[in-house]
Amino acid sequence: MKRMSRIAILASGRGSNLQAVLDAIDAGLLDAEIVGVFSDKPSAPALKRVANDLRWSADAKSFPFREAFDAELADAVNKCRPDWIICAGYLRILSTAFVERFRGRLLNIHPSLLPKYRGLHTHARAIEAGDAEHGASVHFVIPELDAGAVVAQVVVPVQPGDSPETLAARVLPGEHALLLATLQLTCAGRLTERDGVIVIDGHPLFTPLHLDCAGNLA
Ligand code: GAR
Repeated sequence: MKRMSRIAILASGRGSNLQAVLDAIDAGLLDAEIVGVFSDKPSAPALKRVANDLRWSADAKSFPFREAFDAELADAVNKCRPDWIICAGYLRILSTAFVERFRGRLLNIHPSLLPKYRGLHTHARAIEAGDAEHGASVHFVIPELDAGAVVAQVVVPVQPGDSPETLAARVLPGEHALLLATLQLTCAGRLTERDGVIVIDGHPLFTPLHLDCAGNLA
C-alpha cells in the first residue's frame, strides 16, 4: 500500500493556504500529513494553525546573510523527511543552495497567471495593466524568482472597480482549490519534474493545467 505523503509548509503570514490543506486532510480529500510548518517570522499566524511540535521558526532578519538563515531552515525541513515542500505564502526569496537541495519536490503558490507578474504586488499590477483576467499559479521552484515550470493555474475575472484587496479576496479561494487539486496529484504520485519538464502520469506537460469550476484540473 502507498504510504501517506509527508508535506512541509513554508509560510510567512496568515496561513490560509496551509489551513486549506489541513482542512482537506481532515475531510479525507488528501492522503497526506503535514510534518512541519516553517517560518522566517516567529510571529506568523500560520504557525499557530498546527501543534507546537510541528512548528519551526527563526527571525530571518537576525541572520547575517540569506544563506545562513536558509541553511538552518533547510536542515530543519530535512529533519522532518518531507516528500513535498510547499511555499504557501512564504515571502522570502530562497537561496540557490536551498532550492537545489529540495529541487523537484519544492512547489510555490503564486498569486498571478505566471509568467505575468513575478514578485510582489501582483493584484495591483494586474489592475494597473487593465487585465480582464488574473489568477494564481502553482509552479516548481527554481533559483530564479517565480520562474519555474508551472503545473497548474486558476483564472479569476478582474471586475470593474476592483481594488488590489477585492481582487486578492476573489483570487484566494481559487488558490486554495488550486493548491488542493495540485497536491492531490503530487500525493498520488502522479506528478514529477525533471530538468524543468513536468511529467504527469508518464506524459510531459507542455501547458499548465487549468482548474475548472468543479475544482478539477484539466
Ligand atoms: C497568498 O495569496 C499567496 O499566493 C501569496 O501570499 C498569500 C499568502 O496567503 N504568495 C506570494 O505572494 C508568494 N510570492 P496565506 O498566508 O493566507 O496562505
